[in-house]
Amino acid sequence: MLLDVADLNVVFDTPDGQIDAVRGIDFSLAAGQALGIVGESGSGKSQSVLALMGLLASNAHVSGSARLAGERGQPLELLGAAPRVLNRVRGARIAMIFQDPMTALNPHLRIVTQMTEVLTRHRGLGRSAARREAVAMLEAVRIPDAARRIRYYPHQFSGGMRQRVMIAMSLACEPDILVADEPTTALDVTVQADILELIDAMRARTNTALILITHDLGVVAGHTEQVLVMRAGQVVERGNVDEVFAAPAHDYTRALLAAVPRLETPHARPRIDQAG
Ligand SMILES: Nc1ncnc2c1ncn2[C@@H]1O[C@H](COP(=O)(O)OP(=O)(O)OP(=O)(O)O)[C@@H](O)[C@H]1O
Ligand SMILES: [Mg+2]
Repeated sequence: MLLDVADLNVVFDTPDGQIDAVRGIDFSLAAGQALGIVGESGSGKSQSVLALMGLLASNAHVSGSARLAGERGQPLELLGAAPRVLNRVRGARIAMIFQDPMTALNPHLRIVTQMTEVLTRHRGLGRSAARREAVAMLEAVRIPDAARRIRYYPHQFSGGMRQRVMIAMSLACEPDILVADEPTTALDVTVQADILELIDAMRARTNTALILITHDLGVVAGHTEQVLVMRAGQVVERGNVDEVFAAPAHDYTRALLAAVPRLETPHARPRIDQAG
Protein backbone atom coordinates (compact mmCIF):
# COMPACT_ATOMS: atom_id res chain seq x y z
CA MET A 1 0.00 0.00 0.00
CA LEU A 2 1.10 3.53 -0.74
CA LEU A 3 -0.63 4.99 2.32
CA ASP A 4 -1.98 3.22 5.40
CA VAL A 5 -3.99 5.23 7.87
CA ALA A 6 -4.96 3.50 11.11
CA ASP A 7 -6.97 4.75 14.08
CA LEU A 8 -6.47 8.40 13.20
CA ASN A 9 -7.80 10.78 15.85
CA VAL A 10 -7.79 14.56 15.87
CA VAL A 11 -8.84 16.42 19.01
CA PHE A 12 -8.96 20.21 19.34
CA ASP A 13 -8.57 22.08 22.60
CA THR A 14 -10.98 24.98 22.80
CA PRO A 15 -11.98 27.34 25.60
CA ASP A 16 -15.24 25.35 25.83
CA GLY A 17 -13.54 21.99 26.10
CA GLN A 18 -12.35 19.39 23.64
CA ILE A 19 -13.74 18.76 20.18
CA ASP A 20 -13.31 15.26 18.75
CA ALA A 21 -13.01 16.20 15.08
CA VAL A 22 -11.75 12.84 13.79
CA ARG A 23 -12.48 9.67 15.72
CA GLY A 24 -10.49 6.60 14.83
CA ILE A 25 -10.65 6.49 11.07
CA ASP A 26 -8.85 3.89 8.95
CA PHE A 27 -8.21 3.71 5.24
CA SER A 28 -5.55 2.74 2.79
CA LEU A 29 -4.66 3.90 -0.67
CA ALA A 30 -2.80 2.02 -3.39
CA ALA A 31 -0.63 3.69 -6.02
CA GLY A 32 -2.75 5.28 -8.71
CA GLN A 33 -6.03 4.66 -6.85
CA ALA A 34 -8.73 7.31 -6.34
CA LEU A 35 -10.55 7.58 -3.02
CA GLY A 36 -13.51 9.88 -2.42
CA ILE A 37 -14.37 11.24 1.01
CA VAL A 38 -17.91 12.53 1.47
CA GLY A 39 -19.91 13.67 4.46
CA GLU A 40 -21.75 16.67 5.80
CA SER A 41 -20.06 19.91 6.76
CA GLY A 42 -18.02 19.51 9.95
CA SER A 43 -17.77 15.71 9.68
CA GLY A 44 -13.96 15.78 9.80
CA LYS A 45 -13.01 15.41 6.13
CA SER A 46 -10.58 18.30 5.92
CA GLN A 47 -8.99 17.74 9.31
CA SER A 48 -8.33 14.09 8.40
CA VAL A 49 -6.20 15.01 5.41
CA LEU A 50 -4.61 18.05 7.06
CA ALA A 51 -3.46 15.69 9.83
CA LEU A 52 -1.61 13.56 7.26
CA MET A 53 0.14 16.60 5.87
CA GLY A 54 1.12 17.99 9.28
CA LEU A 55 -1.02 21.06 8.65
CA LEU A 56 -3.38 21.04 11.63
CA ALA A 57 -3.94 24.15 13.73
CA SER A 58 -1.76 24.51 16.81
CA ASN A 59 -4.60 23.58 19.21
CA ALA A 60 -4.88 20.11 17.62
CA HIS A 61 -3.70 16.81 19.08
CA VAL A 62 -3.32 13.93 16.71
CA SER A 63 -2.90 10.22 17.41
CA GLY A 64 -2.85 6.99 15.44
CA SER A 65 -0.72 6.13 12.49
CA ALA A 66 -0.34 7.20 8.86
CA ARG A 67 2.37 5.33 7.02
CA LEU A 68 3.56 6.42 3.64
CA ALA A 69 5.45 3.81 1.65
CA GLY A 70 9.11 4.76 1.69
CA GLU A 71 11.17 5.45 -1.37
CA ARG A 72 13.60 2.78 -0.17
CA GLY A 73 11.23 0.21 1.35
CA GLN A 74 11.01 1.54 4.90
CA PRO A 75 7.56 3.16 5.50
CA LEU A 76 7.56 6.71 6.80
CA GLU A 77 5.29 7.57 9.75
CA LEU A 78 3.74 10.93 8.92
CA LEU A 79 2.07 11.64 12.26
CA GLY A 80 4.51 13.40 14.53
CA ALA A 81 7.25 13.51 11.87
CA ALA A 82 9.73 16.39 12.07
CA PRO A 83 8.75 19.58 10.19
CA ARG A 84 11.80 19.17 7.92
CA VAL A 85 10.59 15.68 6.91
CA LEU A 86 7.00 16.84 6.37
CA ASN A 87 8.17 19.76 4.27
CA ARG A 88 9.93 17.40 1.96
CA VAL A 89 6.92 15.03 1.82
CA ARG A 90 4.60 17.92 0.96
CA GLY A 91 6.79 19.14 -1.81
CA ALA A 92 7.75 15.87 -3.36
CA ARG A 93 5.32 13.09 -2.48
CA ILE A 94 1.95 14.48 -1.43
CA ALA A 95 0.49 17.58 -3.07
CA MET A 96 -2.68 19.34 -2.05
CA ILE A 97 -5.21 21.36 -4.01
CA PHE A 98 -7.40 23.62 -1.93
CA GLN A 99 -10.81 25.08 -2.64
CA ASP A 100 -9.30 28.54 -2.88
CA PRO A 101 -6.22 28.61 -5.11
CA MET A 102 -5.03 31.85 -3.53
CA THR A 103 -4.16 29.92 -0.37
CA ALA A 104 -1.53 27.98 -2.33
CA LEU A 105 -0.20 30.70 -4.63
CA ASN A 106 2.03 33.55 -3.52
CA PRO A 107 0.25 36.75 -4.66
CA HIS A 108 3.52 38.69 -4.85
CA LEU A 109 5.41 36.40 -7.21
CA ARG A 110 4.95 35.80 -10.91
CA ILE A 111 3.75 32.30 -11.78
CA VAL A 112 6.99 31.64 -13.64
CA THR A 113 8.98 32.30 -10.47
CA GLN A 114 6.80 30.01 -8.36
CA MET A 115 6.81 27.16 -10.86
CA THR A 116 10.51 27.20 -11.67
CA GLU A 117 11.25 27.27 -7.95
CA VAL A 118 9.31 24.02 -7.46
CA LEU A 119 10.92 22.41 -10.49
CA THR A 120 14.49 23.34 -9.64
CA ARG A 121 14.09 22.34 -6.01
CA HIS A 122 12.19 19.08 -6.40
CA ARG A 123 13.22 17.83 -9.79
CA GLY A 124 16.69 19.27 -9.91
CA LEU A 125 16.18 21.02 -13.24
CA GLY A 126 18.36 23.93 -14.32
CA ARG A 127 16.77 27.34 -14.73
CA SER A 128 16.04 27.28 -18.43
CA ALA A 129 14.91 23.65 -18.44
CA ALA A 130 12.63 24.43 -15.49
CA ARG A 131 11.13 27.34 -17.37
CA ARG A 132 10.49 25.25 -20.48
CA GLU A 133 8.89 22.55 -18.33
CA ALA A 134 6.73 25.15 -16.52
CA VAL A 135 5.39 26.45 -19.83
CA ALA A 136 4.72 22.88 -20.96
CA MET A 137 2.79 22.20 -17.76
CA LEU A 138 0.64 25.31 -18.21
CA GLU A 139 -0.06 24.17 -21.74
CA ALA A 140 -1.00 20.75 -20.40
CA VAL A 141 -3.62 22.35 -18.14
CA ARG A 142 -4.79 24.29 -21.22
CA ILE A 143 -3.75 27.82 -20.32
CA PRO A 144 -3.89 29.59 -23.68
CA ASP A 145 -0.76 31.53 -24.66
CA ALA A 146 1.14 29.95 -21.78
CA ALA A 147 4.55 31.31 -22.78
CA ARG A 148 3.30 34.84 -22.26
CA ARG A 149 0.89 34.24 -19.40
CA ILE A 150 3.51 32.48 -17.32
CA ARG A 151 4.80 35.98 -16.48
CA TYR A 152 1.46 36.93 -14.92
CA TYR A 153 0.88 37.36 -11.22
CA PRO A 154 -1.84 35.12 -9.71
CA HIS A 155 -4.45 37.93 -9.61
CA GLN A 156 -4.13 38.41 -13.37
CA PHE A 157 -5.74 35.02 -14.00
CA SER A 158 -9.46 34.25 -13.81
CA GLY A 159 -10.66 31.97 -11.01
CA GLY A 160 -10.82 28.91 -13.27
CA MET A 161 -7.38 29.62 -14.70
CA ARG A 162 -5.90 30.10 -11.25
CA GLN A 163 -7.27 26.71 -10.33
CA ARG A 164 -5.56 25.23 -13.39
CA VAL A 165 -2.31 26.95 -12.50
CA MET A 166 -2.52 25.49 -9.01
CA ILE A 167 -3.13 22.02 -10.44
CA ALA A 168 -0.13 22.44 -12.73
CA MET A 169 1.98 23.53 -9.77
CA SER A 170 0.83 20.72 -7.51
CA LEU A 171 1.54 18.12 -10.19
CA ALA A 172 4.84 19.69 -11.27
CA CYS A 173 6.87 17.55 -8.89
CA GLU A 174 4.96 14.37 -9.87
CA PRO A 175 3.66 13.52 -6.38
CA ASP A 176 2.59 10.01 -5.40
CA ILE A 177 -0.63 11.36 -3.91
CA LEU A 178 -2.77 14.33 -4.84
CA VAL A 179 -5.14 15.52 -2.12
CA ALA A 180 -7.96 17.67 -3.47
CA ASP A 181 -10.20 19.27 -0.85
CA GLU A 182 -13.34 20.61 -2.55
CA PRO A 183 -11.25 21.60 -5.57
CA THR A 184 -14.14 22.80 -7.69
CA THR A 185 -16.86 23.99 -5.33
CA ALA A 186 -16.07 27.64 -6.01
CA LEU A 187 -16.11 27.23 -9.79
CA ASP A 188 -19.01 27.24 -12.20
CA VAL A 189 -20.29 23.92 -13.45
CA THR A 190 -18.59 23.80 -16.86
CA VAL A 191 -15.21 24.78 -15.42
CA GLN A 192 -15.74 22.19 -12.67
CA ALA A 193 -16.10 19.35 -15.13
CA ASP A 194 -13.09 20.58 -17.07
CA ILE A 195 -10.84 20.73 -14.02
CA LEU A 196 -11.80 17.24 -12.91
CA GLU A 197 -11.10 15.84 -16.36
CA LEU A 198 -7.77 17.58 -16.29
CA ILE A 199 -6.89 16.03 -12.93
CA ASP A 200 -7.85 12.60 -14.28
CA ALA A 201 -5.73 13.06 -17.40
CA MET A 202 -2.70 14.26 -15.47
CA ARG A 203 -3.04 11.41 -12.98
CA ALA A 204 -3.24 8.84 -15.73
CA ARG A 205 0.10 10.12 -17.04
CA THR A 206 1.92 10.00 -13.72
CA ASN A 207 0.02 7.20 -11.90
CA THR A 208 -0.73 9.63 -9.08
CA ALA A 209 -3.19 8.46 -6.42
CA LEU A 210 -6.03 10.81 -5.47
CA ILE A 211 -7.89 11.64 -2.29
CA LEU A 212 -10.89 13.71 -3.37
CA ILE A 213 -13.00 15.46 -0.76
CA THR A 214 -16.32 16.78 -1.98
CA HIS A 215 -19.96 17.38 -1.12
CA ASP A 216 -20.82 16.34 -4.63
CA LEU A 217 -21.76 12.68 -4.79
CA GLY A 218 -21.94 12.90 -8.58
CA VAL A 219 -18.29 13.92 -8.67
CA VAL A 220 -17.34 11.01 -6.43
CA ALA A 221 -19.27 8.60 -8.64
CA GLY A 222 -17.53 9.92 -11.75
CA HIS A 223 -13.96 10.29 -10.58
CA THR A 224 -13.16 7.82 -7.79
CA GLU A 225 -13.27 4.07 -7.28
CA GLN A 226 -13.51 3.83 -3.51
CA VAL A 227 -15.51 6.02 -1.16
CA LEU A 228 -15.54 6.78 2.55
CA VAL A 229 -18.67 8.28 4.04
CA MET A 230 -17.93 10.30 7.15
CA ARG A 231 -20.21 11.48 9.87
CA ALA A 232 -19.28 13.21 13.13
CA GLY A 233 -15.62 12.29 12.80
CA GLN A 234 -16.16 8.62 11.97
CA VAL A 235 -16.32 6.52 8.83
CA VAL A 236 -19.88 5.20 8.71
CA GLU A 237 -19.65 3.45 5.36
CA ARG A 238 -16.97 2.55 2.85
CA GLY A 239 -16.37 0.51 -0.25
CA ASN A 240 -16.48 0.49 -3.98
CA VAL A 241 -18.27 3.63 -5.22
CA ASP A 242 -20.74 1.87 -7.49
CA GLU A 243 -21.66 -0.68 -4.84
CA VAL A 244 -22.07 1.84 -2.04
CA PHE A 245 -24.21 4.12 -4.17
CA ALA A 246 -26.27 1.28 -5.65
CA ALA A 247 -27.00 -0.27 -2.27
CA PRO A 248 -26.08 1.98 0.65
CA ALA A 249 -25.96 -0.01 3.87
CA HIS A 250 -26.08 2.89 6.26
CA ASP A 251 -29.08 5.16 6.92
CA TYR A 252 -26.84 8.20 6.75
CA THR A 253 -25.53 7.31 3.29
CA ARG A 254 -29.11 6.70 2.17
CA ALA A 255 -30.04 10.14 3.49
CA LEU A 256 -27.11 11.74 1.64
CA LEU A 257 -28.15 10.02 -1.57
CA ALA A 258 -31.80 10.91 -1.08
CA ALA A 259 -30.78 14.55 -0.79
CA VAL A 260 -29.21 14.41 -4.26
CA PRO A 261 -31.66 15.12 -7.04
CA ARG A 262 -31.45 12.80 -10.06
CA LEU A 263 -28.21 11.01 -9.35
CA GLU A 264 -29.30 8.46 -11.92
CA THR A 265 -29.77 11.03 -14.70
CA PRO A 266 -26.87 11.02 -17.15
CA HIS A 267 -24.97 14.31 -17.29
CA ALA A 268 -26.89 15.78 -14.39
CA ARG A 269 -24.59 17.47 -11.95
CA PRO A 270 -26.25 16.75 -8.63
CA ARG A 271 -25.02 18.64 -5.66
CA ILE A 272 -25.92 18.89 -2.04
CA ASP A 273 -25.06 21.36 0.63
CA GLN A 274 -23.04 23.61 -1.63
CA ALA A 275 -23.53 26.54 0.67
CA GLY A 276 -21.97 24.77 3.63
N1 LIG B 1 -8.72 24.95 14.96
C1 LIG B 1 -9.84 24.34 15.35
N2 LIG B 1 -10.27 24.43 16.63
C2 LIG B 1 -11.37 23.80 17.06
N3 LIG B 1 -12.14 23.03 16.26
C3 LIG B 1 -11.79 22.91 14.98
C4 LIG B 1 -10.64 23.56 14.45
N4 LIG B 1 -10.53 23.26 13.13
C5 LIG B 1 -11.58 22.45 12.86
N5 LIG B 1 -12.34 22.24 13.95
C6 LIG B 1 -13.56 21.42 14.04
O1 LIG B 1 -13.29 20.12 13.54
C7 LIG B 1 -14.48 19.54 13.01
C8 LIG B 1 -14.19 18.92 11.65
O2 LIG B 1 -13.85 19.95 10.76
P1 LIG B 1 -13.47 19.71 9.23
O3 LIG B 1 -12.82 20.96 8.77
O4 LIG B 1 -12.69 18.46 9.09
O5 LIG B 1 -14.90 19.53 8.56
P2 LIG B 1 -15.25 19.15 7.04
O6 LIG B 1 -15.85 17.78 7.06
O7 LIG B 1 -14.06 19.36 6.19
O8 LIG B 1 -16.41 20.20 6.71
P3 LIG B 1 -16.67 21.08 5.39
O9 LIG B 1 -17.40 20.17 4.47
O10 LIG B 1 -17.55 22.21 5.86
O11 LIG B 1 -15.36 21.56 4.86
C9 LIG B 1 -15.52 20.65 12.97
O12 LIG B 1 -16.37 20.47 14.06
C10 LIG B 1 -14.68 21.90 13.16
O13 LIG B 1 -15.41 22.90 13.82
MG1 LIG C 1 -13.58 20.79 4.76
